[in-house]
Amino acid sequence: DETQEGVKGLVDAKITEVPRIFHIPKDSLTNKKPSVSLTDLEIPIIDFASVHVDTASREAVVEKVKHAAEKWGFFQVINHGIPLNVLEEIQDGGRRFHEEDPEVKKRYFSRDFSANKFVYNSNFDLYSASPSVNWRDAFSCYMAPDPPPPEDLPVACRDAMIEYTKHVMNLGDLLFELLSEALGLKSDTLKNMDCLKSLLMLCNYYPPCPQPDLTMGISQHSDNSFLTILLQDNIGGLQILHQDSWVDVSPIPGALVINMGDFLQLITNDKFVSANHRVPANREGPRVSIASFFSSSSLPNATVYGPMKELVSEENPPKYRDITIKEYTEGYFVKGLDGTSHLSNIR
Ligand code: SIN
Ligand code: FE2
Repeated sequence: DETQEGVKGLVDAKITEVPRIFHIPKDSLTNKKPSVSLTDLEIPIIDFASVHVDTASREAVVEKVKHAAEKWGFFQVINHGIPLNVLEEIQDGGRRFHEEDPEVKKRYFSRDFSANKFVYNSNFDLYSASPSVNWRDAFSCYMAPDPPPPEDLPVACRDAMIEYTKHVMNLGDLLFELLSEALGLKSDTLKNMDCLKSLLMLCNYYPPCPQPDLTMGISQHSDNSFLTILLQDNIGGLQILHQDSWVDVSPIPGALVINMGDFLQLITNDKFVSANHRVPANREGPRVSIASFFSSSSLPNATVYGPMKELVSEENPPKYRDITIKEYTEGYFVKGLDGTSHLSNIR
């Protein structure tokens, strides 16, 4: 099956025209190229070096996190504590897998994300309502709370994934503490709601595209997670929708991009925003990114989430109904990446 060779397979076969299923429909408003692009605006950059120094320094960081979470839904973090070599290893490992012999990759090919195993595929939204498929291959795996046995991970990225997971869990722990404090709540509040419990690691691979104006690397979407930690390489391309303009998230060597997901917007009753973002296709490439989603998809099906009682009042009533992660996730994937947020369906 040729589709199992992914977008990389098309590029390796030296195609010069982008096949029709990748074309952004002409009548689709949602994935249009930017009408305005604010290249001079930058998302907040927050330095975590002083987080553990003293109370005053921590409060200053919390204030910046609060502003970023409320106004942007995104920030970049420097001095986050994950060593540079660990970041390099996971980038290299991810790239190595995507550049393996197609026969090796096919062993992992699947469209079933619910399974607790390593899956590689392309065009995950092929069977959803998305208007077109994306110029991107990807692999993903749940790395917490129940990672597959190491021997079930590909040799190309096994050690890197296991090592990076440890560091991402530690950084996630700190981020949920700071976000809880930014809400004016006790540090362990979000952790106690199991926001940190489940980690899905996703490695995107965007091959160079011969006709970048016709398609997207990844269509406009918000994330199906509480929080996402993204490592991008130095090519760039990630853009976020901010005040109706697309703002570039410029790569900073060694930095990580943090964004709020839909579940955090839901439980904070819109205090924190889950911003839309996308990656246009590019002649330059391949571009590699690693997204770590704190997503809780593996929580018991019955756990429901709704606006937190500490954050609602008579003047500020709940904007969403209660929903299980499972139900939300099913709706999110059936809808596909069509540029609208699934949150609007549960208001
Ligand atoms: C994503 O939103 O999952 C991908 C972002 C990126 O590749 O920069
Ligand atoms: Fe995303």
